[in-house]
Order: sequence, then C-alpha cells, then structure tokens
Amino acid sequence: MTTTWQECDDCAHRLDERDAAVRCPHCAGLLSVHHAPVLTGNALREHFATSPSPSGVWRFGAVVMPDAGADMVSHPEGNTPLIERQQLARWADVTRLQFKHEGHNPTGSFKDRGMTVAMTQARRVGASAVACASTGNTSASLAAYAAQAGLPALAIIPEGQIALGKLAQTLAYGARTVMIDGDFDDCLRLMDAVSAELGVYLVNSVNPWRIEGQKTIGLDLLRQRQWQSPDWIVLPAGNLGNTAALGKAIDEAMTWGLITRRPRIVAVQAEGAAPFADAFARGFDRLVPAEAHTIATAIKIGAPASYARGVRAIRSTDGLVVSVSDREILEAKVAIDAAGVGCEPASAATLAAIRKLRRAGTIAEDDDIVAILTGHLLKDPTIVTELHGSDSTVPGLANRPVRIANTLDAVAAVLFPAQ
Ligand code: F0G
Repeated sequence: MTTTWQECDDCAHRLDERDAAVRCPHCAGLLSVHHAPVLTGNALREHFATSPSPSGVWRFGAVVMPDAGADMVSHPEGNTPLIERQQLARWADVTRLQFKHEGHNPTGSFKDRGMTVAMTQARRVGASAVACASTGNTSASLAAYAAQAGLPALAIIPEGQIALGKLAQTLAYGARTVMIDGDFDDCLRLMDAVSAELGVYLVNSVNPWRIEGQKTIGLDLLRQRQWQSPDWIVLPAGNLGNTAALGKAIDEAMTWGLITRRPRIVAVQAEGAAPFADAFARGFDRLVPAEAHTIATAIKIGAPASYARGVRAIRSTDGLVVSVSDREILEAKVAIDAAGVGCEPASAATLAAIRKLRRAGTIAEDDDIVAILTGHLLKDPTIVTELHGSDSTVPGLANRPVRIANTLDAVAAVLFPAQ
C-alpha cells in the first residue's frame, strides 16, 4: 500500500493525508500531496493496466488517493480519447500530432479529474459545504460533483465573463451561484476570504487533491502511448494548476520508473492574459500581475495562484511558455472545429502555439506532440455563433447558415449551385 501525506511547498511542514487544511497552517504556503508507492516501474504499470475501475482517474488511485474507500465520488471520468487528424497536423506543419480531448469528460472539461478527487477528500474530512471561484469550468464540475456527493456548493463567478454553457451547467447542477462585478482574480481573492472565515471547503486548484486528480491527464496519455513520452505536451495555461499538475505527473513518472524521458511542457497563454509568458521571457524573475483581456474566457486570468508551481513544472521539464493572439486562437479553433474534433477557445490556443513554434523553428516537423484540448466546443456556443454569423470575426472561414424558401428546388440550388 502506498504511504501518502501532505506537505507544505514552502516550509515542508507535514500533515496527515486526511487533514482538512487547504493551505499550510504555519505559513499559508500551498500544500502538495506526496506518495511513496510500494510498486514502481513495470509492476506499477501493470497495476494500472489491470485496474477494475471504470474511471480514468481512479485507475491511478494508488498514486492519487490510495485510501478513498467508500467516500469516493466518481461519475466516472477520464479515459478520454487520444485523437489524430491529419488535416490538423498539416495545418500546423507537423507530422506527429495527437490531441488528448478532455472535453470528453462528464461535464465537458478536464476539471472533472481534479473534482472527483477533491470532492472525495471533502467527504473524507467531513466538509459541510464546498466552494470555488471560477471562469466557469471549475464551477460546472463543482456543481455536478457536489450534487452527486450531496454537499451544498457555492460558486463565485465574474459577471458577464463566463461562457454560456458553463453558466448553464453551474446553475442546472444546482450550485449556489453568486456573480460579482469584477474579474476572476477578484473572485479568487474573495473566495480565499470566504473559505478562511466561513469554513467552507475550497476546491480551487490550490487544493492539493485537485492537482492529484488533474495529474492523471498526463498519466492517462502516457499509458495510452504505452509509456512512450512525446517530445512535447502543449496545454493552455491560466491559473497554472494544470501546468503544475502535468509537471508533477512527469516528475513522478520519472521517479517511479514509468517513463525514461521527460516530455517538454509548452504552456500557452492568450496575449492579453500572459503574466506567466511574460515572466518566462524575463527568466522567471517574478510574477507581475496584470489585468487580463482575451476572448478565451477560461484563461482570462491576470494573477495565477499556482505561479511558483508552474515555474517549477516548466523548469523541471525544460519547457516553454508562449502566448498567442486572440486572432490566432480563433483561427486554430475554426480548424479544430471543422475537423470534427471541436473545442472551446482556450483549448485551441494549443494548436495556435504549435503552428507558431513550428514557424519559429522551435518545433521540428517530425517532433512527437500531444496537445491537450481542455474543454468541449459547446462550452462556449456564443463564440461559435459569432464566428459563423453574419458579422463573423473570421469572414473567410465562416460557415454561415443560408436562409432559403421551403422548397426542394431551393435546397437543390444550395447543394448544386449553377456553375
Ligand atoms: N482550459 C480550460 C478550458 C479551463 O477552463 C482552464 C481553467 C484552463 C484551460 C487553464 O487551466 O487555470 O489550471 O491553468 N479554468 C479555471 C476555471 C480557471 O475556473 O474553470 P489552469
């Protein structure tokens, strides 16, 4: 059986794995979960391969939360597909490109991987309510998993700044949803105070169990590739919980002999919300928070909470942080959608970055690349109708609906226009 404990990133103070603290009680630093698994290498790979769990998170339970027992709250989730589409590889001028499509999770984003574990911990510690601040996907996932766990849920969201599908989910799954006049960074600050003062259990990605769940994106894709590391793993980055989780997955996979080579992480931000990319360009001197602006609302974040962990993930994998413009994000999204794959805008930043890095010569044509598509196309239907409506932001690429008379001839005229 794996030995598991929590430890402060800053002062190394240790806590029992069932301690309800989300931050270090001594120095308020972020906590990480540590595991010392009994199995390593082939035996651990075999243990994952033969897991009876229907969940692509709990298959890896021995290195996520070994002792979840009857408290487990699972939809199930994970086991998302690795997708290859030649037209998209050609679009970015590369030959080996796979998409890990996290939009195939139960609420349509990768957040379900972290939420199943955080909600299980909420039950283990006897939490009376759970809460998060969110750009929409975390709140959708929180709402669904809290409903399953039978726990009251609170979501704090920035009014007018979360995509329609995410707001719909958060409300429909029954979370108490409060909107403030501010951005995500304001929501997170308020949520920190709420969790400290009002005693609700915080499940934002500063929660170490969220990271444990989310690191299974990395484990899942490595397992699907028979533990052969790609050269690059490319993902969108906002609050940096996911970048941190992927870095942890890669570190642990190396330590436990699951892989023999570290993939390099590419974290991608939107140009108008790029404090991490800016810090990277300055040699990670420090984080300079900025007001964020981008159409990719999921990653519209100016003061990432997991900055230090993100830096560690990029450094330990010899990774890169890049930014792409909203225009580049939209072009990539149109391509991904038109390939029948589909994703929300933030996810498309990955393909935009791959094309950009290829053009710069940083990525070689035959490099082996996995891009993580973090959210489903239907998360943000508004942007889709804007893209393909009469005032399209990408007129040359828009697939406009055509209004016709209710006749066979009119359909024929659209299908077979006169030459
Ligand atoms: N992609 C999507 C679709 C997201 O929803 C998020 C974050 C990210 C990427 C970035 O991940 O923050 O860990 O760097 N969404 C959060 C939310 C902030 O509240 O749903 P990150």
